[in-house]
Amino acid sequence: MDSPVSQPTVVALSLLLLALYLARRALLGKRRNYPPVAGTMIHQLLNLRRLVDYQTELSHRYRTFRMLTPTCNKVYTVDPANVEYILRTNFSNYGKGRTHHDVLQDLLGDGIFNVDGDKWRHQRKVASFEFSTRVLREYSTGVFRDTAAELAGIVAASGGGGERAVDMHDLFMRSTLDSIFKIGFGVSLGGLSGSSQEGAAFARAFDDASEQVLCRFFDLLWKVKRVLNVSSEAAMKRSVRTINDFVYAVIDKKIEQLGRDQHEFAKKEDILSRFLLEREKDPGCFDNKYLRDITLNFVIAGRDTSAGTLSWFLYVLCRNQHIQDKIAREVREATTGDGDRAVGIQEFTSCLTEGAINSMQYLHAALTETLRLYPAVPIDVKRCFSDDTLPDGYEVKKGDMVTYQPYPMGRMKFLWGDDAEEFRPERWLDDHGVFVPESPFKFTAFQAGPRICLGKEFAYRQMKIFAAVLLYLFRFEMWERGSTVGYRTMLTLKMDGPLYVRAIPRRA
Ligand code: HEM
Repeated sequence: MDSPVSQPTVVALSLLLLALYLARRALLGKRRNYPPVAGTMIHQLLNLRRLVDYQTELSHRYRTFRMLTPTCNKVYTVDPANVEYILRTNFSNYGKGRTHHDVLQDLLGDGIFNVDGDKWRHQRKVASFEFSTRVLREYSTGVFRDTAAELAGIVAASGGGGERAVDMHDLFMRSTLDSIFKIGFGVSLGGLSGSSQEGAAFARAFDDASEQVLCRFFDLLWKVKRVLNVSSEAAMKRSVRTINDFVYAVIDKKIEQLGRDQHEFAKKEDILSRFLLEREKDPGCFDNKYLRDITLNFVIAGRDTSAGTLSWFLYVLCRNQHIQDKIAREVREATTGDGDRAVGIQEFTSCLTEGAINSMQYLHAALTETLRLYPAVPIDVKRCFSDDTLPDGYEVKKGDMVTYQPYPMGRMKFLWGDDAEEFRPERWLDDHGVFVPESPFKFTAFQAGPRICLGKEFAYRQMKIFAAVLLYLFRFEMWERGSTVGYRTMLTLKMDGPLYVRAIPRRA
């Protein structure tokens, strides 16, 4: 994203903000212990294209700092003690807040991702229960395996044995949407195969709306545009309508099926069906809008995050062939175990049992190392609800935006040692090669505390299955040797373009 302001405007606005800040300090007299000022929001706008690296540079200088804005302080921290305090110890004092809710309302509604307080507590309770069931675990494993097999088939066909470039970023985006949508709604979108027109329209609207909603964070006039139904807001409205039409049609069809044969329906395993069955036990506990919101929130929560992580994972493996080979060896030993015997995709995916997946400790470490350096949510903001003091002694005020920073945290030497910038899966393994987790307040890719990612176990399972299938069958190289990819400044750490690779079959 280009910086929307010119250099002289930046200097003028920065000086103005600084003058306002100094005047307020002089008026208020006694200086309070606020975090040091590292810059203003104008500096952030100037560095928008490389925002998370800019934040990392500032974090090397100050573990906690603030950026001035005309309305509130933006406080940023990489200090695990502060992170624990915000996300757990004083959890109720930090939340999504009203502004965040309003910006995301049209897309996320009142889904778990977008609410605080009782609304959040209720959904978290219901969803935690569903996510812990064996039914959903087994169903989702089946969906991940089938989708991974389909993906591998497409890579084989479109890659032509390494002769043609394959855009793995695009394929991961399509395959993760297919699988999460199937788990959420019990319906195939056909995004990978392109078999459904409505599915394709939904997928397009979904991608568009995710981008359009982001513009609101940078557009002070979005509410006016929304009322007038013009420009980005008119487009947003169209996308949301397409999404809603599709989702409500699925809900209506399910309700019809439930009415026809409840006994048969009870066997359905997707999230929406499980919620509909809950509603049968307690009619009125949630309406169709609630069902739309909660189910769609899972799709949103689980799609870009998993697709992005898989893309960065493959990217680092292309740049670290010895690590890629080591994972491929581990996958083979945990599954077919017998050298170069050719095994078809279907036979291979059936070897991906829970035991086999769990035994892939090096793969688990490599995915975690990817998330340390390329966390799917690179910086995560909370609204402070009342004046407070952080464990490092700095004060924050009601209304401040307090942000913990997974991307900068993953690159701090004081947290990970001198080789913090290096991709080294071994740092996660003990002497016996067993994965050892870190404190979630230091490795913050999945957030931590009561709102820790609900789909963490799901995400690892999906990514391990996809990675195992692909690395068992292919060796990947960057299509253009030595080429690099960057990121786009979004809510998630998305690649800024295609990930063109060469997929060379490992076996005949
Ligand atoms: C690599 C993959 C993933 C990463 C890195 C990740 C990371 C995160 C993070 C950082 C949050 C906190 C966001 C916030 O509230 O500010 C979160 C929340 C959440 N995640 Fe994930 N996620 C991943 C995959 C998934 C998947 C696959 C699902 C669902 C199947 C999922 C479901 C959720 C839900 C429901 C929440 C909201 C929890 C709450 O507010 O109580 N996530 N995730």
